[in-house]
Amino acid sequence: MKDIITLAIESSCDETCAAILKNGREILSNVVSTQIDLHKKFGGVVPEVASRKHIENIELVIQSALDEAKLSFKDIDVIGVTYGPGLVGALLVGLSSAKALSFALDIPLVGVNHIEGHIAANFIEHKDLEPPFVCLIVSGGHTHLVEVKGYGEYEILGKTRDDAAGEAFDKIARALNLGYPGGPKIDKLSKIGNKKAIDFPRIYLEEDSFDFSFSGLKSAVLNYLNSKKMKNEEIVVEDVAASFQEAVLDVLVDKSIKAARVKGYDKVVLAGGVAANSGLREKLSEKGKEYNIDIKYPPLSLCTDNAAMIGCAAYYDYLNGKVSDLYLNAVPNLKLGQK
Ligand code: KG4
Ligand code: ZN
Repeated sequence: MKDIITLAIESSCDETCAAILKNGREILSNVVSTQIDLHKKFGGVVPEVASRKHIENIELVIQSALDEAKLSFKDIDVIGVTYGPGLVGALLVGLSSAKALSFALDIPLVGVNHIEGHIAANFIEHKDLEPPFVCLIVSGGHTHLVEVKGYGEYEILGKTRDDAAGEAFDKIARALNLGYPGGPKIDKLSKIGNKKAIDFPRIYLEEDSFDFSFSGLKSAVLNYLNSKKMKNEEIVVEDVAASFQEAVLDVLVDKSIKAARVKGYDKVVLAGGVAANSGLREKLSEKGKEYNIDIKYPPLSLCTDNAAMIGCAAYYDYLNGKVSDLYLNAVPNLKLGQK
């Protein structure tokens, strides 16, 4: 069979990305131009600034992806692009470029759900991984526990009712003056802090629920910091970071393992920016061993936003005949499993 070469574009938040894949699972290039430094001074992503920077970067990033893969536009068979969820202005930049290329090159366009992309990152890393499995997707914007029944076939078991896991990391990091993005900073400090120093609440919600809630934990940490300040007592930042992280991880790990056991799966797969968290990888792997459940996660470069993961998801959609037309629009609040 002829190789299928996919060009993928991702611009849903603060990273301008393009990648080229062979047959969905082999990366020929994966270019990420991050805007983190630009947004740092604002303590988070400023949507208008992000859109403008995407416009400046997009053509260069696509060209770099082609150059690195030593290919040209005529070698591309399919174009995959994130059309949601994300910031509308940011999404539109990648989407418009993808539509223009699809039209000019007369090749199929595949609109990809960003969250599906995060899941697909695992197919690139683990060549023999096949559905079904349970996937915990934890990023700056999403926290989902999902049954992946087939390629592009999902059933949501639970999701966050308030903050996303990464959002909680970022907010607590801000309160601790650690800067943006907070996840990696809290992860690093947690390695030297005492995770048992402060007993922050673990929010499990109803007995049989696979939903999450992090706002109560966030308030508990903020209250703790305020009361320490009022009393003029010392705050041990690494202990706060470690105790907060442990409270998040306990719930994420327990619910993921429980989901696999209840649904009868022997695999739990991690995805999204927070899947880069070393404590989460370790804790989930340990607990997996205890219950004979295989734990898989992507390498760090494929955890946070990138276009290779979008290209992989686009490839399977393409094989399943899920091709978009040029009326495809950005859907900022696109849900998982919605087309
Ligand atoms: O997947 P991603 O790049 O963007 C979204 O789709 O949201 O995830 C970014 C999120 C941020 O909230 C960041 O703080 C978090 O992932 N993150 C981490 C780590 N690395 C990134 N959170 C915890 N530990 C990490 N090592
Ligand atoms: Zn993401």
